[in-house]
Amino acid sequence: MLISGENLRKEFILEKQPFTGKPLKVYVALEDVNINIESGKTMGLVGESGSGKSTTGEILGNLQLPTSGTVFYEGKDITKLTKAEYKEYRRNVQYIFQDPKGSMSPFLTIKEIIAEPLQIMGLVKDQKTIDHLVEEVLTKVSLPSSFSTRYAGELSGGQCQRVAIARAIIVKPKLIICDEPVSALDVTIQGQIMELLKDLQKEYNMAYLFISHDLGVVNYMSDEIMVMQSGKIIEVGEAEQIIQHPKHDYTISLLSSASLTA
Ligand SMILES: Nc1ncnc2c1ncn2[C@@H]1O[C@H](COP(=O)(O)OP(=O)(O)OP(=O)(O)O)[C@@H](O)[C@H]1O
Ligand SMILES: [Mg+2]
Repeated sequence: MLISGENLRKEFILEKQPFTGKPLKVYVALEDVNINIESGKTMGLVGESGSGKSTTGEILGNLQLPTSGTVFYEGKDITKLTKAEYKEYRRNVQYIFQDPKGSMSPFLTIKEIIAEPLQIMGLVKDQKTIDHLVEEVLTKVSLPSSFSTRYAGELSGGQCQRVAIARAIIVKPKLIICDEPVSALDVTIQGQIMELLKDLQKEYNMAYLFISHDLGVVNYMSDEIMVMQSGKIIEVGEAEQIIQHPKHDYTISLLSSASLTA
């Protein structure tokens, strides 16, 4: 198993006692969530707004800590990794956010944005190599190399999402957590981005955690699907099985609102 989450629970403290700091009101965003993602495969995570999809993705990517439960990367508890192992985990687990423009600094050029992971992790220091790698990934996501000197604010939503994908693949990760990567895009562009993600997955043998509220989109992308409702996983299985024989009423209702055109 590439990455897994065991018995994940996340509580958000909404109100604290002013002096003691004791929690007065707690919101349980995740309860007993178990998730397994295999190398090279896509796990789809679907559910309505507020069901806990992003929280799950962020915990697997260590952008948030669970209240309890454990994340394992290649079988090791991520809180117990050595410095070198943690660096590997950081490199191998990348993120594509729902709001492509919001996740990019308006003051950096596209080249600087794409090169960010290389620099943050200190993987490559030589500017010539960085330029070469940026050009290579721009080609992979079908953007002209002239884009490297432009700014995120000048790009369309679809172009920005291609930049986000380029930034994720530049470190050749084993997993990309894709949090609603096509939700902000119109249907034609959605299709193009999904095709691109599929092509890159084959080429780089990457796994995806593909998050969406649209079961049609998730089905198109995924080998397995997990259905989430109010912080709990209520159904999990092979994508085809879930679509053909949904067990839960909630899954059936998601099916009826899915854009199965995808
Ligand atoms: N920092 C926070 N403080 C309090 N509650 C939070 C916080 N972050 C998330 N929540 C709550 O946890 C629940 C799960 O949020 P999450 O963002 O994981 O949902 P989601 O399934 O990704 O929704 P969406 O489809 O709208 O992105 C929501 O009810 C949300 O309001
Ligand atoms: Mg979300």
